[in-house]
Amino acid sequence: YLTLAIAVVGGYLLGSIPFGLIATRLGGAGDIRQIGSGNIGATNVLRSGRKDLAAITLIGDAGKGVLAVLLARWMTNDSAAIVALAGGAAFLGHLFPVWLKFKGGKGVATFYGVLLSACWPVGVLAAVTWLAMAVLFRISSLAALTAAALAAPFALATDQPHAMLVLALFMAVLIFIRHRENIARLLKGQEPKIGQKKAAEP
Ligand code: G3P
Repeated sequence: YLTLAIAVVGGYLLGSIPFGLIATRLGGAGDIRQIGSGNIGATNVLRSGRKDLAAITLIGDAGKGVLAVLLARWMTNDSAAIVALAGGAAFLGHLFPVWLKFKGGKGVATFYGVLLSACWPVGVLAAVTWLAMAVLFRISSLAALTAAALAAPFALATDQPHAMLVLALFMAVLIFIRHRENIARLLKGQEPKIGQKKAAEP
Protein backbone atom coordinates (compact mmCIF):
# COMPACT_ATOMS: atom_id res chain seq x y z
CA TYR A 1 0.00 0.00 0.00
CA LEU A 2 2.89 2.33 0.68
CA THR A 3 4.12 1.82 -2.89
CA LEU A 4 0.65 2.53 -4.23
CA ALA A 5 0.37 5.68 -2.13
CA ILE A 6 3.79 6.96 -3.25
CA ALA A 7 3.02 6.22 -6.91
CA VAL A 8 -0.35 7.99 -6.78
CA VAL A 9 0.63 10.98 -4.64
CA GLY A 10 3.93 11.34 -6.52
CA GLY A 11 2.03 11.12 -9.82
CA TYR A 12 -0.43 13.78 -8.73
CA LEU A 13 2.29 16.15 -7.52
CA LEU A 14 4.29 15.74 -10.73
CA GLY A 15 1.15 16.25 -12.81
CA SER A 16 0.23 19.40 -10.93
CA ILE A 17 3.36 21.29 -12.07
CA PRO A 18 1.93 23.91 -14.48
CA PHE A 19 4.68 24.14 -17.08
CA GLY A 20 2.74 26.56 -19.29
CA LEU A 21 2.29 29.03 -16.46
CA ILE A 22 5.89 28.72 -15.28
CA ALA A 23 7.38 28.94 -18.79
CA THR A 24 5.38 32.03 -19.77
CA ARG A 25 6.15 33.78 -16.46
CA LEU A 26 9.87 33.05 -16.57
CA GLY A 27 9.98 33.64 -20.32
CA GLY A 28 8.50 37.12 -19.92
CA ALA A 29 5.29 36.42 -21.83
CA GLY A 30 3.02 37.47 -18.97
CA ASP A 31 0.24 35.44 -17.37
CA ILE A 32 -0.94 32.83 -19.84
CA ARG A 33 -4.35 32.80 -18.16
CA GLN A 34 -4.92 36.30 -19.56
CA ILE A 35 -4.12 35.26 -23.15
CA GLY A 36 -6.31 33.57 -25.80
CA SER A 37 -8.44 30.80 -24.32
CA GLY A 38 -6.91 31.38 -20.89
CA ASN A 39 -5.79 27.74 -20.80
CA ILE A 40 -2.35 26.87 -19.40
CA GLY A 41 -1.54 24.39 -22.20
CA ALA A 42 0.92 24.48 -25.10
CA THR A 43 -1.76 25.36 -27.68
CA ASN A 44 -2.56 28.54 -25.82
CA VAL A 45 1.07 29.38 -25.06
CA LEU A 46 1.58 29.35 -28.84
CA ARG A 47 -0.98 32.18 -29.03
CA SER A 48 1.45 34.35 -27.06
CA GLY A 49 3.60 34.18 -30.19
CA ARG A 50 6.39 32.32 -28.40
CA LYS A 51 7.05 28.98 -30.10
CA ASP A 52 9.95 28.25 -27.75
CA LEU A 53 7.74 28.57 -24.67
CA ALA A 54 5.01 26.47 -26.32
CA ALA A 55 7.55 23.71 -27.01
CA ILE A 56 8.78 23.83 -23.40
CA THR A 57 5.16 23.60 -22.20
CA LEU A 58 4.40 20.63 -24.44
CA ILE A 59 7.56 18.78 -23.41
CA GLY A 60 7.13 19.63 -19.72
CA ASP A 61 3.44 18.71 -19.53
CA ALA A 62 3.98 15.45 -21.46
CA GLY A 63 7.25 14.75 -19.61
CA LYS A 64 5.65 14.87 -16.18
CA GLY A 65 3.21 12.16 -17.29
CA VAL A 66 6.14 10.08 -18.53
CA LEU A 67 7.98 10.56 -15.25
CA ALA A 68 4.97 9.59 -13.12
CA VAL A 69 4.54 6.39 -15.14
CA LEU A 70 8.25 5.51 -15.10
CA LEU A 71 8.35 6.06 -11.35
CA ALA A 72 5.43 3.65 -10.86
CA ARG A 73 6.94 1.11 -13.24
CA TRP A 74 10.23 1.18 -11.43
CA MET A 75 8.65 0.92 -7.97
CA THR A 76 6.27 -1.93 -8.83
CA ASN A 77 8.05 -3.96 -11.45
CA ASP A 78 5.47 -2.96 -14.04
CA SER A 79 2.19 -3.59 -12.23
CA ALA A 80 -0.34 -2.45 -14.86
CA ALA A 81 -2.90 -1.43 -12.24
CA ILE A 82 -0.52 0.77 -10.24
CA VAL A 83 1.05 2.23 -13.40
CA ALA A 84 -2.45 3.14 -14.62
CA LEU A 85 -3.34 4.70 -11.25
CA ALA A 86 -0.12 6.74 -11.19
CA GLY A 87 -0.66 7.91 -14.78
CA GLY A 88 -4.28 8.78 -14.01
CA ALA A 89 -3.12 10.69 -10.93
CA ALA A 90 -0.61 12.72 -12.99
CA PHE A 91 -3.37 13.53 -15.48
CA LEU A 92 -5.68 14.62 -12.64
CA GLY A 93 -2.83 16.69 -11.19
CA HIS A 94 -2.64 18.63 -14.45
CA LEU A 95 -6.40 19.21 -14.51
CA PHE A 96 -6.72 20.01 -10.81
CA PRO A 97 -3.41 21.35 -9.47
CA VAL A 98 -3.44 22.20 -5.78
CA TRP A 99 -1.12 25.18 -6.50
CA LEU A 100 -3.64 26.88 -8.79
CA LYS A 101 -6.66 26.37 -6.53
CA PHE A 102 -7.40 23.25 -8.60
CA LYS A 103 -7.87 25.28 -11.80
CA GLY A 104 -5.60 23.49 -14.24
CA GLY A 105 -5.42 22.61 -17.90
CA LYS A 106 -7.21 20.42 -20.39
CA GLY A 107 -4.85 17.46 -20.13
CA VAL A 108 -3.90 16.75 -23.73
CA ALA A 109 -0.09 16.83 -23.46
CA THR A 110 -0.15 14.85 -20.20
CA PHE A 111 -2.51 12.30 -21.77
CA TYR A 112 0.16 11.71 -24.45
CA GLY A 113 3.01 11.44 -21.95
CA VAL A 114 1.05 8.93 -19.88
CA LEU A 115 -0.07 6.82 -22.84
CA LEU A 116 3.31 6.78 -24.57
CA SER A 117 5.02 5.50 -21.43
CA ALA A 118 2.26 3.28 -19.98
CA CYS A 119 1.06 1.60 -23.20
CA TRP A 120 3.10 2.96 -26.09
CA PRO A 121 1.09 1.48 -29.01
CA VAL A 122 -1.96 3.44 -27.85
CA GLY A 123 0.17 6.56 -27.41
CA VAL A 124 1.68 6.24 -30.87
CA LEU A 125 -1.70 5.66 -32.54
CA ALA A 126 -3.21 8.60 -30.65
CA ALA A 127 -0.27 10.82 -31.62
CA VAL A 128 -0.59 9.85 -35.29
CA THR A 129 -4.31 10.66 -35.04
CA TRP A 130 -3.58 14.09 -33.57
CA LEU A 131 -1.00 14.85 -36.26
CA ALA A 132 -3.24 13.71 -39.11
CA MET A 133 -6.18 15.76 -37.83
CA ALA A 134 -3.95 18.77 -37.17
CA VAL A 135 -2.56 18.62 -40.70
CA LEU A 136 -6.06 18.28 -42.16
CA PHE A 137 -7.93 20.87 -40.09
CA ARG A 138 -5.28 22.89 -38.23
CA ILE A 139 -7.42 22.97 -35.07
CA SER A 140 -5.74 21.75 -31.89
CA SER A 141 -8.87 20.95 -29.89
CA LEU A 142 -10.45 18.99 -32.75
CA ALA A 143 -7.28 16.93 -33.15
CA ALA A 144 -7.15 16.26 -29.40
CA LEU A 145 -10.84 15.32 -29.15
CA THR A 146 -10.55 12.89 -32.06
CA ALA A 147 -7.46 11.26 -30.55
CA ALA A 148 -9.12 11.06 -27.11
CA ALA A 149 -12.24 9.47 -28.57
CA LEU A 150 -10.11 6.81 -30.27
CA ALA A 151 -7.81 6.05 -27.31
CA ALA A 152 -10.02 3.32 -25.80
CA PRO A 153 -10.69 1.67 -29.18
CA PHE A 154 -6.91 1.75 -29.81
CA ALA A 155 -6.35 0.06 -26.41
CA LEU A 156 -8.84 -2.66 -27.35
CA ALA A 157 -7.37 -3.12 -30.82
CA THR A 158 -3.84 -3.51 -29.48
CA ASP A 159 -4.89 -5.89 -26.70
CA GLN A 160 -3.81 -3.79 -23.75
CA PRO A 161 -4.32 -4.92 -20.14
CA HIS A 162 -7.70 -4.00 -18.70
CA ALA A 163 -6.14 -1.27 -16.52
CA MET A 164 -4.86 0.55 -19.63
CA LEU A 165 -8.27 0.43 -21.27
CA VAL A 166 -9.82 1.98 -18.16
CA LEU A 167 -7.04 4.59 -18.03
CA ALA A 168 -7.57 5.55 -21.69
CA LEU A 169 -11.33 5.81 -21.20
CA PHE A 170 -10.98 7.81 -17.98
CA MET A 171 -8.66 10.38 -19.55
CA ALA A 172 -10.78 10.62 -22.70
CA VAL A 173 -13.96 11.38 -20.74
CA LEU A 174 -12.20 14.11 -18.75
CA ILE A 175 -10.66 15.59 -21.91
CA PHE A 176 -14.15 15.88 -23.41
CA ILE A 177 -15.53 17.49 -20.24
CA ARG A 178 -12.60 19.94 -20.17
CA HIS A 179 -13.16 20.88 -23.82
CA ARG A 180 -16.83 21.88 -23.38
CA GLU A 181 -16.14 25.45 -24.48
CA ASN A 182 -13.98 24.27 -27.39
CA ILE A 183 -16.75 21.90 -28.50
CA ALA A 184 -19.27 24.75 -28.43
CA ARG A 185 -16.92 26.90 -30.56
CA LEU A 186 -16.24 24.01 -32.95
CA LEU A 187 -19.96 23.54 -33.51
CA LYS A 188 -20.31 27.25 -34.29
CA GLY A 189 -17.26 27.20 -36.57
CA GLN A 190 -15.50 29.67 -34.28
CA GLU A 191 -12.57 27.64 -33.01
CA PRO A 192 -9.27 29.30 -33.96
CA LYS A 193 -6.68 27.51 -36.06
CA ILE A 194 -3.35 26.52 -34.49
CA GLY A 195 -1.29 29.64 -33.79
CA GLN A 196 -4.18 32.04 -34.42
CA LYS A 197 -5.29 34.30 -31.61
CA LYS A 198 -8.97 34.15 -32.53
CA ALA A 199 -11.13 32.60 -35.22
CA ALA A 200 -11.55 34.88 -38.22
CA GLU A 201 -14.91 36.66 -38.24
CA PRO A 202 -17.28 34.93 -40.67
O1 G3P B 1 -4.64 21.00 -25.68
C1 G3P B 1 -5.66 21.87 -25.43
C2 G3P B 1 -6.29 22.13 -26.77
O2 G3P B 1 -6.95 20.97 -27.18
C3 G3P B 1 -7.19 23.30 -26.73
O3 G3P B 1 -6.54 24.41 -26.17
O4 G3P B 1 -6.23 26.81 -25.71
O5 G3P B 1 -7.43 26.05 -27.77
O6 G3P B 1 -8.51 25.79 -25.56
P1 G3P B 1 -7.21 25.84 -26.30
